Amino acid sequence: MKLLVIETTCDETAAAIVAEPLTVLSSVVASQDALHKHYGGVVPEIASRAHVERILPVIDEALRRANLELSQIDAVAVATTPGLAGSLLVGLSAAKALCLAIGKPLVAIDHLQAHIYACKVAGAEDLFPCVGLVVSGGHSGLYRCNDALDFKFLGGTVDDAAGEAFDKVAVLLGLPYPGGPSIERAAKAGSADAHSFPRAFVHDRDKVIFSFSGLKTAVRYQIAPVGETPRPESLSPKTIADLAASFQEAVVDCLVDKSLVAVEMTGLRTLAIGGGVAANGRLRSRFEETCRQRNIRLFIAPKNLCTDNAAMGAIALERLKAGLVEPLTLDVRPGVVR
Ligand code: KG4
Ligand code: ZN
Repeated sequence: MKLLVIETTCDETAAAIVAEPLTVLSSVVASQDALHKHYGGVVPEIASRAHVERILPVIDEALRRANLELSQIDAVAVATTPGLAGSLLVGLSAAKALCLAIGKPLVAIDHLQAHIYACKVAGAEDLFPCVGLVVSGGHSGLYRCNDALDFKFLGGTVDDAAGEAFDKVAVLLGLPYPGGPSIERAAKAGSADAHSFPRAFVHDRDKVIFSFSGLKTAVRYQIAPVGETPRPESLSPKTIADLAASFQEAVVDCLVDKSLVAVEMTGLRTLAIGGGVAANGRLRSRFEETCRQRNIRLFIAPKNLCTDNAAMGAIALERLKAGLVEPLTLDVRPGVVR
């Protein structure tokens, strides 16, 4: 069984060919970073227009690398939720057209579930059941993942996603987009103890809940007092490094803390982490250390499967095997489905 997977939830245009038993035959990602970097964040209209230009060449390239013709594909899968409406629509329209052309079924993917499934794509055969932590640009949440078809939301952010906070703090510090990698680079020369930024809800032991908006505001007022406009160009490299390191540590503290609460709540002893922010080196080493000390099995998606890609959409193989195919009247769902 061979599946073409399409991913256009945000600003990466991606396609992959995956096969059963779970193998990635090809995976192509066309990044739009160069288009959005002038704005310090993703501009939805630019993203959807760029998807339109790139989607067919990216699909062609995925087929070419897998050495397959479209007619050899058994189904087409596409991420339909959550994401930017205009971006999701490009992927779904392409997937529907291909299904119609080759007479094969359509499979829908939940992008957040796919971020966790990236751990399985990377080889974690006995991943389920597990606690799943998704930390991306648009979402931060913890899930009880019973199997590939059964994810229960335990709790998440009440305001900014972790990646969104990285991106916005990077703008305050005058660092280039995407903010996560820039802050990680800058933080290497800084001290995580330089500033004691807030860690929202860390004393709340019975709730899985994040908030990163106050942390972002705390960084802003550290840069310039109330009434003054922050001017990144006035910050010294040492100041930027210290702010970046202290901010990064506060985010990681919150993520580690609430992941442990979720592990306690569920009684599960496996933790799986995916999403763009999971590419962060400090996050990875802190989780590795914490889980080793507590005897929790830890899977973190490899860095190339953390940021958006279509290979993680191999979760669609499980849906197809379970007979979960969709009508061609399927619509996108930009908001999170719980
Ligand atoms: O999963 P993803 O590619 O897209 C969404 O589904 O949102 O995540 C993108 C986010 C961005 O906010 C980006 O700044 C962040 O992941 N990110 C990182 C790192 N690499 C990407 N955050 C922290 N450290 C990184 N190394
Ligand atoms: Zn994502």
